[in-house]
Amino acid sequence: MAFTSLNIHLLPVFVFLLSTVGVDAGAAYLSNGLQNDYYRHSCPTAESVVRRVVRANVSDPSNPNNLRFAAGLVRMSFHDCFVEGCDASVLLNGLGTEKTARINKFLQSSEIIDKAKQELEKVSPGVVSCADILQYAARDSVVALNGSSWKVQGGRRDGCVSRADSADSEIPSPDLDLDGLTASFNRKGLSRDQMVILSGAHTSAAGHCENLVTRLYNFNSTHATDPSIPAAYAAQLKSLCPQRTFNDSVFIVLDTVSPFFDAGYYVTLEQHQGLFTSDQILFDDPRTRPLVESLTDNKLFEKDFGEAMRAMAAVEVKLYEGEIRNDCRMINPY
Ligand code: HEM
Repeated sequence: MAFTSLNIHLLPVFVFLLSTVGVDAGAAYLSNGLQNDYYRHSCPTAESVVRRVVRANVSDPSNPNNLRFAAGLVRMSFHDCFVEGCDASVLLNGLGTEKTARINKFLQSSEIIDKAKQELEKVSPGVVSCADILQYAARDSVVALNGSSWKVQGGRRDGCVSRADSADSEIPSPDLDLDGLTASFNRKGLSRDQMVILSGAHTSAAGHCENLVTRLYNFNSTHATDPSIPAAYAAQLKSLCPQRTFNDSVFIVLDTVSPFFDAGYYVTLEQHQGLFTSDQILFDDPRTRPLVESLTDNKLFEKDFGEAMRAMAAVEVKLYEGEIRNDCRMINPY
């Protein structure tokens, strides 16, 4: 199409406008289409309501149950973004939805998102998406666990598709090696370094025996148990998770240094106490070891983690399709 003289006159203005978009992480509009302070006009209390609800439900870090709920929200943000993009598809109820996937068996804390949504529907009905609430809640959970805050962008719409088989194929397994993990994150537009940094969320994580079976009892044809696990640690894990008789009420922390949201996870890896293959490989593989070593610096970890979360929270977001759900557990009736 040829430009008319009017188009040509407008062109420099258009180019200037474009050049102001997406250049500065502090700018209101970013190239991913999401926005800082997205609800400042449409629902000014959106972020504070989510913060209050999260705090009320995870506010006592000395209570192990509170810690688990906060960790649950951080994990849920990841499991949402890796399947259909960050669109709250993980929250949908129903036969065969993501919630029913094997990989999501131990996902928890969706009740906290429901509570925040119910409060927000009272003040601003139909305005704040469940997908945004989940990302705000993940940030607020990290803060509740004594971690550092970051600016969460808003503007995601909620999706209407949720399939268990997609969750099981898109979310990486704890038995993956570095190439498998990297490929999984690359598929979502995230780098290997971002994968290592985001794995730092395991600083407040716990795992169940079911996810350790391969590493402890069925590793490969030559070793029943992963030989990279120090003998004393392997014995300890096996006593917590006896073969075939483990129960779901046992959970094992992934960061043996501290329960708070800090760089302790990376120190744990240096001490060869990574719980899953996908954790310990980050230190054992020479390609990521230098980054793991540098992330043992708390200040660097905190800064990098917030930035990586912003990148993850922008994966395949829906800006125009989808809807603002009335109830995070179900798509809106027509
Ligand atoms: C790099 C690939 C990753 C793998 C293979 C992985 C795998 C796992 C596994 C197997 C568990 C334990 C589940 C259980 O047994 O209950 C877990 C827990 C957890 N993961 Fe990851 N994860 C990965 C990345 C992430 C990312 C990117 C985040 C968030 C940014 C995250 C946050 C968490 C949290 C907070 C928990 C603890 C949840 C709770 O205690 O309820 N993980 N992860």
